[in-house]
Amino acid sequence: MPRPLTAHRSRALAGTITVPGDKSISHRALILGALATGHTLIKGLLEAEDVMATARAVQALGADLRRQDSAVEVKGQGVGGLRSPREPLDFGNSGTGSRLMLGVVAGHDMEARFTGDESLCRRPMGRVLLPLERMGLRREEADRDTFPLTVRGTSDLLPIRYEPPVASAQVKSAVLLAGLHAPGRTTVVEPAPARDHTERMLGHFGAEISLEEVSGGGRAVTVRGDAELSGKGVTVPGDPSSAAFAIAAALICPGSEVVIEGMLMNPTRIGFLETVREMGAAIELLDLRDEGGEPVGDLKVKARDLKGITVPAGRAPSMIDEYPILAVLSAFADGETRMRGLAELRVKESDRLAATAAGLAALGVETTVDGDDLIVSGMGAGGVPGGGSVQTEMDHRIAMAFLVAGLASSAPVTVDDTTMIATSFPDFVPLMAGLGAQFR
Ligand code: S3P
Repeated sequence: MPRPLTAHRSRALAGTITVPGDKSISHRALILGALATGHTLIKGLLEAEDVMATARAVQALGADLRRQDSAVEVKGQGVGGLRSPREPLDFGNSGTGSRLMLGVVAGHDMEARFTGDESLCRRPMGRVLLPLERMGLRREEADRDTFPLTVRGTSDLLPIRYEPPVASAQVKSAVLLAGLHAPGRTTVVEPAPARDHTERMLGHFGAEISLEEVSGGGRAVTVRGDAELSGKGVTVPGDPSSAAFAIAAALICPGSEVVIEGMLMNPTRIGFLETVREMGAAIELLDLRDEGGEPVGDLKVKARDLKGITVPAGRAPSMIDEYPILAVLSAFADGETRMRGLAELRVKESDRLAATAAGLAALGVETTVDGDDLIVSGMGAGGVPGGGSVQTEMDHRIAMAFLVAGLASSAPVTVDDTTMIATSFPDFVPLMAGLGAQFR
């Protein structure tokens, strides 16, 4: 059953929050833990539906998961040591979990059926199946690139050098995870650097990884196959893609001052921070430290009048999931914001380009989609009429972005369904309400 919610204009937000664990790192910690020998202890794992789907999948393949106080312990089976699942693997809404696990299944002599919810079953899987098939994976339904799909892996995988046409961490990761099982070196040459958690964590677990800059701004990532991974401790930092909603809310609710503790500051993930600073945001970095191989910081955010800017296409990989909330922020800025090169938004949990434009239109904000660019005519602080009802299209980030919009619009904003928020940020509503956000 859909659960609608309405966000009302709120007074200044105040307080300190810790956003939940990073979704990308959480998936990878479970998967590498399952492929390692020995025990992996994960602290701060994001306990949201997407990650739980990956947890169930690695259990179905033979990894042992156990709760240890607030941490989760994975007992792995070693690279190549997983077993065929007896039931179809249901990844719910999770593109990341399912695409990464296709890379894992590719390297095992096993058959597995992959499925998911309505949104996941619409998303293109050809982007990972193509390189994995070059390595030796077979798919039963040769003419389909959407779930449900049955695939057969092999213990005789071939190493490849692959140049994906788009900068996608999921594609890169699927190929690298398969490459662990192949003899020799598997290389992914990315057109622009996408999030690098897989290669960082593979190094942490003992795999041999090498990086090479290539001309034109890209990067070649190589993993040496027939690898052995050993279980390690992983501390999951706060997810910058979740923090973006709190940052945006603090910026647009006049008088706000919010501290966000323990946010991942990996350079491949902080394009949103760079962008809002260009728009005039006052964000103070209080403490930058290293936590388990990833940079982590605390941020103090104060409300500010923002100005419209042009966001270059090259920044998209470092803030790909933050465009819906950036588009909302742009509506509260003075002047026009043009976000360039957003083709990838069309194949996320929803067509986010269309859903974001439609949501802003419902709030009375002039928005244009020009090719792959999104252009928002900012109405200035306090200038967004609101009052509309927003279709979230089974997309957690559309739901959260427009609930934030309602906190500073003149009239309340209703989103048609909030159930999908549980896929990435189950405590979004209570956490934001704790800062003073008015939801009813
Ligand atoms: C992710 C990669 C991104 C991002 C997704 C998480 C990951 O997708 O949108 O939410 O953890 O690897 P692409 O790889 O398709 O860019």
